[in-house]
Amino acid sequence: MFQKASVSSFTAIAHPNIAFIKYWGNRDDALRLPANGSISMNLAELTTQTSVSLDPDLQRDKLVLNGQPEQGAALTRVSTFLELVRNAAGSRSFALVESRNDFPTGAGIASSASAFAALALAASAAYGLELSEKDLSRLARRGSGSACRSVPDGFTEWQAGTSDQDSFATSIAPADHWQLMDVITVIHSGEKKAGSTEGHHLAATSPVQAARVADAPRRLDDCRQAIFAKDFERLAFVIEQDSNLLHAIMMTSHPALYYWRGATMEVINSVRGWREQGIPCAFTIDAGPNVHVVCPADTAERVENQLREIPGVESVLVSGVGGAARLLVD
Ligand code: PMV
Repeated sequence: MFQKASVSSFTAIAHPNIAFIKYWGNRDDALRLPANGSISMNLAELTTQTSVSLDPDLQRDKLVLNGQPEQGAALTRVSTFLELVRNAAGSRSFALVESRNDFPTGAGIASSASAFAALALAASAAYGLELSEKDLSRLARRGSGSACRSVPDGFTEWQAGTSDQDSFATSIAPADHWQLMDVITVIHSGEKKAGSTEGHHLAATSPVQAARVADAPRRLDDCRQAIFAKDFERLAFVIEQDSNLLHAIMMTSHPALYYWRGATMEVINSVRGWREQGIPCAFTIDAGPNVHVVCPADTAERVENQLREIPGVESVLVSGVGGAARLLVD
């Protein structure tokens, strides 16, 4: 009788994040070293849960996403990432990766950040690597740049660095530092035309990118100070300016990328109008048409209700500030 070798399995949870100062463009595509530093907040109410099980009987890696077996590009990306972990651990065992998002996939919320943060943690544990938070963040970065910011707690900053060694994210304030909310306004939940990997490649073709990158230290400092001082007005200005700079790059790349829809502009105008009336809220937009409306917790319900009234808004999700990626212990 053959006894099946025991399967070692580890499960991790991570939150996606919304960038206040955006990452767009790499100085090194293979290592995902960014052109500029970035700052984000983790989203507590949204989670990715990922289990990695090493099985000596597997002939290749397997990926199951939201209950569906995946082949092709998604599996290749995960397998390439696992190869980094295997090389570091000196292992040749393949793994079954089972991952589940508790937020609607395709709702325009970047799931690659929480996906690779959770995968980095579960895989490093399964392969027996004991990584510091810094090394875990460096590892997550290799799967998806913004994933490095989903590793530490709360409000996090990714220092661009100059090499694989010094490009990672740290927490600049814990999740309970400031009760901010992200009111995620879904305008279109379909697949986007151009993903962020393609966008990072195109960034350097925009004549505006050099100016955006050169000015990034000022915006990062402004955003960091606004978070430290819980100064919403200061935060609002810098996150909207940074988001507009990101979309200026996209619209002036070659070929150009346009992510906005009509309702995106409606939401922007509404947010600006509400702020003029004294309601603290500010918008920021990633690589898609959906608008993240950031506001203090006590304003979120009012903002959410008003956003739901705007024609073209499909749905609204609300999240506070989330914690660090963590392993689930049985
Ligand atoms: O981590 P990526 O390669 O999916 O890039 C993320 C890009 C943005 O979401 C637009 C900005 C950011 O910093 O999260």
